[in-house]
Amino acid sequence: MGTVPRNRPESEGYDESRLGFGRIFTDRMLTIQYSAEKGGWQPPEIKPLEKLILHPATLVLHYGQEVFEGLKAFAGPKEDDILLFRPDMNIARFNKSCRRMCIPAIDPGLFMEQMSLLIRKDRDWIPRAPGTSLYVRPTIFAVDPFLGVAVGKEYIFYIILSPVGAYYPEGFAPVKILVTDKYVRACRGGVGEAKTSGNYAASLLASEEAHAEGFTQVLWLNAVDKASIEEVGTSNIFFRIDNEIITPALEGTILPGVTRDSVIRLARDMGYKVTEGRITIDQVVEAAKSGALKEMFGSGTAAVVSPVSLFRYKGTDYTVADGKTGEVAAKLFDELTGMQTAARPDPYGWVVNIGK
Ligand code: COI
Repeated sequence: MGTVPRNRPESEGYDESRLGFGRIFTDRMLTIQYSAEKGGWQPPEIKPLEKLILHPATLVLHYGQEVFEGLKAFAGPKEDDILLFRPDMNIARFNKSCRRMCIPAIDPGLFMEQMSLLIRKDRDWIPRAPGTSLYVRPTIFAVDPFLGVAVGKEYIFYIILSPVGAYYPEGFAPVKILVTDKYVRACRGGVGEAKTSGNYAASLLASEEAHAEGFTQVLWLNAVDKASIEEVGTSNIFFRIDNEIITPALEGTILPGVTRDSVIRLARDMGYKVTEGRITIDQVVEAAKSGALKEMFGSGTAAVVSPVSLFRYKGTDYTVADGKTGEVAAKLFDELTGMQTAARPDPYGWVVNIGK
């Protein structure tokens, strides 16, 4: 059991089976300040979750110098288990995003150690209901109170924790997506592959318009050719055309997803041909018309493996897999979540138990 008594708001209707995503937070947070003037990283602190007090001129509020990550901690079969899924990849991506945003990288060992310490302290918040986990959100941003456009000299790195269920309101059921050729998310040389807040801000208007038309998400096309497919914004995207699984290659505009990488490996080991390459919306439309498009699904830490039941492009709707979850998406979802919760074997050594 954990080191502190349970402090979850059961009395206020806390219900593990109806968590949704990202509205409930645990008792504590980790902070590590960075100050160029004081010689860099300062000692880590784990303290009660508190509001941040920011000067109105704080750099990040004006120029967006920020990076974040998302990973999940799972309960396992043993009382003591706290299972993280490929945390090394999230930490490496965090530092890669930091380099792109001119933010100091953090020592990966310190990151892992302090994150594990925080999760262990708040372990009683790890939900156990099927489909739930403790979402871990590391964040860093520039805090200097300065109105010039410049690289910050002061940063706050923090980690907060949130017990979560499914990301989408649909739960793990298939979602409808709108292919936009009106807006673009990122282009080569930009910050599309960094996990930085501006990418998400750039997606909001398109998402709002998609929601108003009854779609859950937007599918982004390449900013230059408006033809090749990029990603969904909250997840990477996969297509099964006949028996080949295709996903856009990493060419600097899309997020290099940890779940994307895992899905590619799992699908190959299940015997499917998986291609990382260019796939255009016209190819997908053709495949949908001919019946060759068997499945379409997103992959992401929050979204897991998220089947697409329908997409709309240039005003025409295309139903995928008869509007149901396809067999490959279902297998991948089960394999991935089974491995993450140690209900299934992990031949890859992806799951790290930090519970002891
Ligand atoms: C994640 O999948 O963890 C993300 O950070 C995506 C975010 C839109 C929730």
